[in-house]
Amino acid sequence: MAEFETVLRTPELGPGAMMAVEAHGREIVVANVGQTYYAVDASCPVDGANLAREGRLEDDVLICPHDGARFSVRTGERLDGGDGLRAHAVRIEGNEIKVGSADYADRNAR
Ligand code: FES
Repeated sequence: MAEFETVLRTPELGPGAMMAVEAHGREIVVANVGQTYYAVDASCPVDGANLAREGRLEDDVLICPHDGARFSVRTGERLDGGDGLRAHAVRIEGNEIKVGSADYADRNAR
C-alpha cells in the first residue's frame, strides 16, 4: 500500500472547510485551516461519533456534537483531556492533497 494516498484536490476544500475521505482503510477528516491542510481520524474516541459527518470545525478545533469533546485538528490532541485522534501526515503535490498512512505517522513520530 502506498504511504500517501491522494484524497482531494485543493480547489475542493476552501479555507475553513473540512471533508470526510477514505484513505488507508480508515475514515479521515481533512481540514483546511488558513490554507494549511490537516488530517485526523474521524471516529470520536469518546463514543464513536463520526466527526467528519457530524462534527464542526471552529478555526483549528474540531468539536464533537454529542458530548462536546474538542480536538486540535493540527495534532489530534483532545483539548479538554482524554484520548485524542490519530493525526496523519499531509503532503501537497501540485493541487493534490495526499494523506499519509498510520504506519507512516508511527515511523515519523517525534
Ligand atoms: S461521541 Fe464524541 S464526545 Fe461523545
